Amino acid sequence: MCGIIGYIGNRDCVQIIQAGLSRLAYRGYDSAGIAVCHEGDIDLRRAHGKLENLISLISVDPIRGNTGIGHTRWATHGRPSESNAHPQKYGKFAIVHNGIIENYLELRQELIARGHQFTSETDTEIVVHLIAEAYEGDFAQAVRKALKNVRGSYAIVALCADHPDEIIAARQQSPLIIAKGDAENFVASDVAAVLAYSRQFIFLDDGDIARVTANTIEIFDLDNRKIDRPVKEIQWNLAAAEKQGYPHYMLKEIYEQPQKITDTFRGRILEDEGIINIDEAIDKLEFEKCHRLQIVACGTSYHAGLLGKYLIEKLARIPVDVDVASEYRYRNPIITPNDGFIAISQSGETADTYACLKIAREHGAKILSICNVMDSTIPRASDATFYTRADPEIGVASTKAFTTQLASLILLAIHFARKLGMIDADYTRHLLNALRAIPSQMEAILESSDDVRLVARKLLRANSFLYLGRNVHYPIALEGALKLKEITYIHAEAYPSGEMKHGPIALIDDRLPVIVIAPKNSTYEKTLSNLQEVKARNGRIISIVTEGDDMLTRVSEHAFTIPECDEIVQPFLSVLYLQLLAYHIADLLGNDVDQPRNLAKSVTVE
Ligand code: AGP
Repeated sequence: MCGIIGYIGNRDCVQIIQAGLSRLAYRGYDSAGIAVCHEGDIDLRRAHGKLENLISLISVDPIRGNTGIGHTRWATHGRPSESNAHPQKYGKFAIVHNGIIENYLELRQELIARGHQFTSETDTEIVVHLIAEAYEGDFAQAVRKALKNVRGSYAIVALCADHPDEIIAARQQSPLIIAKGDAENFVASDVAAVLAYSRQFIFLDDGDIARVTANTIEIFDLDNRKIDRPVKEIQWNLAAAEKQGYPHYMLKEIYEQPQKITDTFRGRILEDEGIINIDEAIDKLEFEKCHRLQIVACGTSYHAGLLGKYLIEKLARIPVDVDVASEYRYRNPIITPNDGFIAISQSGETADTYACLKIAREHGAKILSICNVMDSTIPRASDATFYTRADPEIGVASTKAFTTQLASLILLAIHFARKLGMIDADYTRHLLNALRAIPSQMEAILESSDDVRLVARKLLRANSFLYLGRNVHYPIALEGALKLKEITYIHAEAYPSGEMKHGPIALIDDRLPVIVIAPKNSTYEKTLSNLQEVKARNGRIISIVTEGDDMLTRVSEHAFTIPECDEIVQPFLSVLYLQLLAYHIADLLGNDVDQPRNLAKSVTVE
C-alpha cells in the first residue's frame, strides 16, 4: 500500500509534492518519486529508501513544473528499488498507483506479445503501457480504456506530456481525494497530505475517473458518464497531523488519548437522561434486536473487538462473535439477515476487513463500521459508521485509535443495554460517570511515563515476554504483546492468565519478563494464584495493580498502579502502561518507532 499525490496549478509543484509525500510516508516508505510535465516531456526523479533520499536527489538534480505527481511506496510487486519506484513512466506518460492489479501477469504477457518491453517488476508499469496503447489524443479517454482491462484495486494519478494542463485520477478500492484550491487543485491518498493548502475535499468513489485542471474538476465513470460528487469541508487543523514537539508520532498519539476519548464521547453521553445520544443512522439499524452480532477486524482493531464482546455480552446480553478478518472471509461464515455485522478499522481501508463486509452484505446482514477515517472505503460501504474521532493516527503502531475504538464499543454496549432494558437509568448514570472520569485518570497515568522508562531500561535484553490478563484484560494483554512485537521486534505472546497451567508455565524462569494485568476486579483472586505460580518459579513479574495493593506489589519486580474504578473502565488505564512500555523499550533500542520495519499503517493488500 502506498501514498500518492498530484498537483496542477500556477505554482511550481515540486515543493508542494515533496511536502505532501512527507505527510504520506506512513503509508509506505521503501522508495519515492516525482514526475513533472516540462517543455513537452516528462521529467522523472526516483530514489530507493526513505523520502529524504529523493529530496536529496532533487536538490542536486532539480526538476520544475506546474503539473506533477508523486509517490511513496510500500512494495507489493517487485522488491524496493529505484526501478520499481513510482512514478512509472512510458513514452509521454507517467503514473503513480496505490493498489494491486490482480491480472497484471496476463496483461504483461499480452503487452510483451505486442512488442512492449518493461523496465520494472511492478504491476503498475503495465497500466502506463495500456494508457499509451489506448491513447489517440484524448488523455482521459485513454485512461478509461486502459482501466477497463484492469482487475484489482487502484488509486492512480497520471500525467501526459501532450496535456500539461490536466492530470487524470482514478479510484477502485484504494482511497483517493481531490482538494480544491485557488487556480490550483490537488489529488492525494488522504486529507493530511494537502490540508495545508485546502479544506474543500471531494472523496472519489470506486469506478470514478477525474479530469483535473488548475480550475476545473470533472468526474466520470468508466463509461464516461458524468458524476457529481459533493465537496466536503474538513475541519482538521494541520497540527493534528504533525508531531507537536514529541519525538515520535506514537508518543504524541499516546498522550492524545485522553483528549480523543473526550472527543469520542462528546455529544454522545446524555448523563442527566442516563442515555447515549447515538447517531440516528446507527440507531435505525436496531442492532439491539439482532440475534447475534459479528465483529470482524484485524490486528489491534481485532483486540478492540474482543473487548467489545465482553462489554456487549456483559451489559446487553446480546451474543457476540469476534473474528480475524483474514480467517472469517475464507471459512464460508454463517450469516443471516438477523445478524448485525460490525467492521472495526482505524484506516477504513484494510482489504481483509472490507472483503468480510462485502460478504456480510451479500448475506443481507446490517452493517455498522467503527472507523477513524471519514469517508474511507469501509464506512462508505456500511449502513452506518460510528466514527472514533481520533484525528489522523500517523504512528504505524496503533494507540489512540485503539482506545477510541474501546470508547465507541462501550457507548454502543450501553446503548444496546438501555434499549433492551437490561440496565436502568441509574446504573447507566453510574457507568457514564465512570466513563467521564477516564480522561483525567489517563492523564494521571501518563505522568508516570518516566517510571515506565526506568523499568523499560531493565528489560532491554529480554528476548521474549509473556503477557497475562483475564476477562476484560485478556484483549489488553494481547494488545500489549502486539505493541511490543511491532516496534521492539522482541517476541511476545499473550495468554489468558487461567491458561498458565495448560502449558505456558513451562516457559517461566528468571529471564522471562511476565507482564501481569491484575487490578482489583471480579477475577482478581484467580489472577493472584496465577501470579504466585509465576513467583514460585522465579519469574520476573511486572504487574499492573490497583493502587494500595501491597501484596501484589511485594511479589512484583515492579508494579504499575491504576486507581480503583469500575471493571469496564480498567482496560483504558491498563493499556496505557503497555503502550508506554513498548514505546520506551523500542526508543531505548534505537528503533524507528513510527515506521517499524516490514509494517505499513494501512494494509490495503491481502
Ligand atoms: C496495530 O498497531 C497495527 N498497526 C495493525 O495490527 C492494525 O491494527 C491492523 O492492520 C488493522 O488496521 P485497521 O484498524 O486500519 O483496519
